[in-house]
Amino acid sequence: MNQTVLDALERPLRDLRISVTDKCNFRCTYCMPAEIFGPDYTFLPKGQLLSFEEIERLAKIFVKDLGVKKLRITGGEPLMRKDLPILIKKLRAINGVEDIAMTTNASLLPKHAKDLKDAGLDRVSVSLDSLSDEVFGKINGRGVRVQTVLDGIEAASQFGLKVKLNMVVKRGINHKDVVPMAKFFREKGHILRFIEYMDVGNSNKWKLDDVYTKKQIIEDIHNVMPLEPIQANYTGEVATRYRYVGSEDEIGVISSVSDSFCSSCNRARLSAEGQLYTCLFAAKGHDLRTLLRSDLTDIALADKIKGIWNVRRDRYSEERENNPINKQKVEMSHIGG
Ligand code: GTP
Ligand code: 5AD
Ligand code: SF4
Ligand code: SF4
Repeated sequence: MNQTVLDALERPLRDLRISVTDKCNFRCTYCMPAEIFGPDYTFLPKGQLLSFEEIERLAKIFVKDLGVKKLRITGGEPLMRKDLPILIKKLRAINGVEDIAMTTNASLLPKHAKDLKDAGLDRVSVSLDSLSDEVFGKINGRGVRVQTVLDGIEAASQFGLKVKLNMVVKRGINHKDVVPMAKFFREKGHILRFIEYMDVGNSNKWKLDDVYTKKQIIEDIHNVMPLEPIQANYTGEVATRYRYVGSEDEIGVISSVSDSFCSSCNRARLSAEGQLYTCLFAAKGHDLRTLLRSDLTDIALADKIKGIWNVRRDRYSEERENNPINKQKVEMSHIGG
């Protein structure tokens, strides 16, 4: 039975984001800046990662006993984890899972898209911040070319995975790319979501001045291609949707800074080493790995997780009200956004 478990602010749990690795082959300045995530940076050793069997066991409990309907695989870059289709196949077999998505930088999709689709993945959200090699190469910190990502998108589409795009917009860095990106992906027929640059983690030296807001993004596009707001697809959708007037083509804006959406937040995040985070901006997680590796039954494990969700009061973006709160926060690469 798919149950509804409410937190202390009466929010259900619907969406579980599962990070499978903290590694990434990019070094995006807003996520894993190269000066911090350099050659000496220590990533999680293999023995500390949850095995696919452990992830499967937890996912089953989240779906059966906590009401989760949507699973999203994240990283770092999830495709840095070997044999991912094996995990997808296990997750697909769980009764009650309505949607399995993956957030990826797309660079490894040409190699893996077919196996992922065959294993049961429904869709991918691909991160791309500019159509200029120069701008994108600087942002991704590794000089990766735009065509590499476009090839990944092409491979995903070719094998039947639905594709959405995510563009993080940073003032003075890529805000001039908003309109070209909108035009390009409208023509390609993919939904593009613009994401306000967020103060996730403690590595990216976030400043409010660097945020290019939802209002500015919409104005820029509306001036060239008129937009009208449309309704959310589902309660708790993070993106506000807009349609190009006179068409069915749409975009989204994820405005965690200028217009937060904590009141409908129904997401939990599981890190690669099995810590459960109840907010993207949490300082620390709840150690599920130790519980998994103890002799607890599934029922007892489900009760522990319900206990964590029941007392959840997180609403960081609402509390922040534009000023970053000076506290320890988990890194984005640890919980995949
Ligand atoms: P859909 O399932 O397609 O609606 O995707 P999604 O927007 O839930 O997931 P995706 O991984 O594509 O996330 C897009 C952006 O939204 C990323 O920058 C995430 O960090 C951000 N995001 C997702 N969930 C939350 C959230 O609960 N809080 C905040 N502040 N940002 C979030
Ligand atoms: N602010 C906003 N979005 C971010 N992402 C990574 N770091 C940040 C940040 N500081 C995005 C990635 C990816 C998604 C998981 O989160 O570009 O699309
Ligand atoms: Fe890697 Fe994605 Fe972070 Fe960029 S945003 S460094 S691609 S995990
Ligand atoms: Fe949810 Fe935390 Fe994001 Fe608010 S800031 S929407 S509580 S993850």
